[in-house]
Amino acid sequence: MRTVALVVVFLAGVTTAAAAQSALKDAYKADFVIGAALNEAQITGQDARGDAIVEAQFNSISPENCLKWERVHPQPHRYDFSIPDQYVAFGEKNRMFVVGHTLVWHNQTPDWVFRDGKGKLLGRKALLKRLRNHIYTVVGRYKGRIKSWDVVNEALNEDGSLRQSLWLKIIGESYIAKAFRYAHEADPTAELTYNDYNIENEVKRAGAVALIKKLKAEGVPITTVGIQGHYTLDSPDLKLLDEGIDAYSKLGVKVAITELDVDVLPRKNLPVTADIAVNLAQDPALNPYVNGLPDAVQQQLAERYAAIFEICLKHRGTVDRVTLWGVTDADSWHNGWPIRGRTAYSLLFNRAGKPKPAYDMVIQETGR
Ligand code: G3I
Repeated sequence: MRTVALVVVFLAGVTTAAAAQSALKDAYKADFVIGAALNEAQITGQDARGDAIVEAQFNSISPENCLKWERVHPQPHRYDFSIPDQYVAFGEKNRMFVVGHTLVWHNQTPDWVFRDGKGKLLGRKALLKRLRNHIYTVVGRYKGRIKSWDVVNEALNEDGSLRQSLWLKIIGESYIAKAFRYAHEADPTAELTYNDYNIENEVKRAGAVALIKKLKAEGVPITTVGIQGHYTLDSPDLKLLDEGIDAYSKLGVKVAITELDVDVLPRKNLPVTADIAVNLAQDPALNPYVNGLPDAVQQQLAERYAAIFEICLKHRGTVDRVTLWGVTDADSWHNGWPIRGRTAYSLLFNRAGKPKPAYDMVIQETGR
């Protein structure tokens, strides 16, 4: 299929006409839903051009930041649902599959969550109570409306062991099972996801497989594994994605690609990661495409995206959603990470809101 798509892409006129008549969500209608992560400007209607792209092209949305703990529950007795309410309303207005991200994470969780009034770390019981209240309140508010929740985010280290977060230190390993159970109690109809990056890679994958097996054996209501999909042009080897989807599918869970993007910018020696704690020094040599992306790299990006979608299509039935982590290149978190102030080209729409060759090839990939 890829060879055919490649040929078609070079017939520029034909491709543009095909893309103009189509939309991602229509091209993939028979396969899986196609999502985009929305930032605040898109949720609140300040980015009308971005909203028009989302409405025309996508049938699922994820909140890039507004449902993270520090945003939605900044203080012990204060929840802020102003942005999340608009987010869910946007999805409903457009009949989209609305995703919630994320309930339990080691990042973007205020320090007070783990401490008592005197600043001392909480005990297990007290932290579980806080976790349950948070999940009941947030999931309960959008019961039946947010269809899928990222319940636990990034709980694993690269070697497949459990990350030493305060959740683990205070509650122990059972915090994961508890979070899923609380979410299920709050909304028994919602899909519940374990979401992480690099869990296609063999060693970390083994840890994820063991974790999910254990959760399933204990009757924990997990329905989905979220492979984030923060990729570069050459890493990871996509055979790992193929094998990873197979491995998770054998455990009786669905797979969603939850945060797909492809970074074309150089990273020096940084391994592929989505660890937001990384912050490298600025260096013009590491920001090479300020004035535009060379055709050859544009083509490489298109082929990379086509190859990713080819694998997702192969696993249609197991893969039930592919979500892009942003709308246009201007929105991508890669403009600020792992180095601030760079010009990134990670998504399917350019800074002018126009579909890129990668978009055309992703559409062509369905062969329809
Ligand atoms: O909104 C404030 C703004 O008021 C302030 O002036 C500015 C100054 O730094 O910060 C703004 O907040 C930033 C926010 O993004 C919105 O742009 C935060 O500092 C920044 O930390 C935050 O980064 C987000 C990051 O998660 C951390 O929460 C990225 O947008 C978001 O794309 C990224 O998403 C994560 C997923 O949740 C989990 N998987 C990895 C993925 C990529 O890192």
